[in-house]
Amino acid sequence: MSAQDPKANNPKIEQAAASDQNIQKVHAILLREKPEPAEGYSPMPLFLLGFVSAMIFIVSVYFVHNRGGIGPSLKSGVSGLTFKEAALVYDERYDPATAPGAGAVKELTPEQVLASGKKLYATCATCHQPTGTGLAGTYPPLAKSEWVLGSEDRLIRILLNGLKGEITVEGNKYNGLMPAFGKVPNSGYNWTDDKIAHVLTFIRHEWGNAAAPITTAKVKEIREQVAAARPGNWTEAELLAVP
Ligand code: HEC
Repeated sequence: MSAQDPKANNPKIEQAAASDQNIQKVHAILLREKPEPAEGYSPMPLFLLGFVSAMIFIVSVYFVHNRGGIGPSLKSGVSGLTFKEAALVYDERYDPATAPGAGAVKELTPEQVLASGKKLYATCATCHQPTGTGLAGTYPPLAKSEWVLGSEDRLIRILLNGLKGEITVEGNKYNGLMPAFGKVPNSGYNWTDDKIAHVLTFIRHEWGNAAAPITTAKVKEIREQVAAARPGNWTEAELLAVP
């Protein structure tokens, strides 16, 4: 570029050249960032294909294991719907009255009764203490108590209607109030025969105590005997009159 060149040192022309360069740069960037043009559908990404296949596989295995007897049996190759297998499958022919096992009362094992009684005992433990030893002078002990280990009838009555006034337990005198746990007015507890039987079975078995379990039927019998006749808490004298 000579000194005579009219373009030389012309700021406008230099500016124009510079902006041309900028425009080209910007276009180059835009072109580079455009996705490749493609026709039709793009294939599913591999990881998604793998994920969906795994889900289908897991669901199939789950269904085979939880189909409640629908379809051929894996073991015998025969389609056999046993009652137990089909328990969770809707069956319009199912009639609870004639189904196997109908009418059988659910019996708890001795261990289950004790476990239930132990849970219920949490209510008693606030007074009689978790150790069953009571609190000297205030709450009588249940461990080794003659009232717990002795007459079933008296013990059930104590639970159903509660106890008041002076009572001697293991040679010590107490004079407090034991709340009623039966369905009596103002008891607040309203325990069923089952609950009372369970907690009594528990306290007759715990802390070295070893007396026979108390059955629900026995609680029911005593409850029916005293229901009408007995509105309030027992006293020691009344209980001692009971065989
Ligand atoms: C609010 C405190 C309290 C609760 C809760 C309570 N008791 Fe008592 N219990 C007493 C008191 C006080 C006596 C003594 C009553 C008296 O002095 O006349 C007593 C007496 C007894 C007795 C006869 C005396 C003895 O020590 O053997 C038995 C049995 C008994 N309770 C069992 C239970 C059982 C089982 C429960 C739980 C279901 C229970 N109690 C919950 C306060 C309570």
